[in-house]
Amino acid sequence: MKKVRIVITGGSGFIGSHFIKLLMRSERNNEIFNIDLLTYAGDNRRLQEIERSNLYHFIRCDIREKDKILSVLRDIKPDVIFHFASETHVDNSIARPSDFITTNINGTFNILEFVRSSETKLIHISTDEIYGDRKKGESLFVEDNNYNPSSPYSGSKAAQEMLIKSYIRTYKIKSIIIRPCNNFGPFQHREKFIPKSIISALNNKPIEIYGDGKNKREWIYIDDGCDAIYRIYKKGRIGEIYNIGSGFIVSNNRIAIEILKLTGRPRDLILYVEDRPGHDTMYGVDFSKLRSMGFRPKTSLITGLKLTVEWYQNNSDW
Ligand SMILES: NC(=O)c1ccc[n+]([C@@H]2O[C@H](COP(=O)([O-])OP(=O)(O)OC[C@H]3O[C@@H](n4cnc5c(N)ncnc54)[C@H](O)[C@@H]3O)[C@@H](O)[C@H]2O)c1
Repeated sequence: MKKVRIVITGGSGFIGSHFIKLLMRSERNNEIFNIDLLTYAGDNRRLQEIERSNLYHFIRCDIREKDKILSVLRDIKPDVIFHFASETHVDNSIARPSDFITTNINGTFNILEFVRSSETKLIHISTDEIYGDRKKGESLFVEDNNYNPSSPYSGSKAAQEMLIKSYIRTYKIKSIIIRPCNNFGPFQHREKFIPKSIISALNNKPIEIYGDGKNKREWIYIDDGCDAIYRIYKKGRIGEIYNIGSGFIVSNNRIAIEILKLTGRPRDLILYVEDRPGHDTMYGVDFSKLRSMGFRPKTSLITGLKLTVEWYQNNSDW
C-alpha cells in the first residue's frame, strides 16, 4: 500500500503532538514527518510513546529559514502538510510581538512558497481569535464573519489566513483553513490558563485571573479538538474554512472554580489581577459545518477538566 507522506509543522507542541498520536493510532499507512524548531513551547516528551516507530521522523528546523525549510520539504515530498507551528501565547505577543510576526507570518509564507510549487495539500491551523470580540447578544461567529483581531497573536494568525486565501485564489493551491476554539488537556504548556491554574491550585498558590474573570471562552478537550481536525482532513472541501467549537462557553471564573473544586482547594485562592490590554470579552463559534460531518464533542467540560487535573497531579515534573 502506498504510504501517505504527512508533514506536521509544530508537531512537538501541544495540539500537534496529540494530533500525531491520533494519526498513528488511526491509520497504518501514514509516514509522519514532524518539523519543529523546539522553541520553549516544543517538547518531545509529548511524543515518547511513538518516537521509536519507523513511521515517525523528527526534523529540527526553523520555518523562518527559507532555504532550509524549502529543502527539507522538497526532500520529503509530502502529500499533505498540517501547519501547526506558530508562536501561540497571547501575553507573549503583547510583551514581545516580534517572533509572532517572523514565525507566524514569514514562516507561513515559506510554507506557502513550497506548496505553490508542488501538488501538496495544506491544512492550516488558525484560531477562533481572528474574529475578535463577540459582543453580548451577538450571534456565534460563522466562517464568513469578518476578521477583527485584538492582539498581535490574533493579528498574525489573521495575516496567515490572508496569505493562504491569496495563494488559493492566485496559485490555486489546495488548502483548508481550520479555526479551533481553546483546546485544553494533558501536556499543555504551563503558561496557558488551565494548566497554570491547576498547577497553582495544586501548590496552594493563588489562581490569577485577569480583570473581573467574566470573560468567556469556548473550551474543547484535546481529544475532541484532534478528532475534529481529523474529520476535516478526511471530509472537508478544498478552499473551505471550518470552525471547531464545542458549545462549552464559560467564564474564566467558572473554570477557576471548577479547578478549585476538583483539587479540593478553597475559593479564596482566586486572585484578580490587572486586565490584559485588549482582552476579548467573549468568544464562541458556530460549528454547524463541522457538525454536518458527524462531529460531536465526546468529553464534557467537567470530565475534560477532571482528566486534565488528574494528569497534572500525576505529572508534577511537567
Ligand atoms: N492551543 C489552543 O487552544 C489553540 C486554539 C486555537 C488555535 N491554535 C493554533 O493551533 C496551533 C498549535 O497550537 P499549540 O497550542 O499546540 O501551540 P504550542 O505553542 O504548544 O506549540 C507550537 C509548536 O510550534 C513550534 N514552533 C514555534 N516556532 C517555530 C518555528 N519558527 N519553526 C518551527 N517550529 C516552531 C514550537 O516549538 C512548538 O512545538 C497554533 O497554530 C495555534 O495558533 C491553538
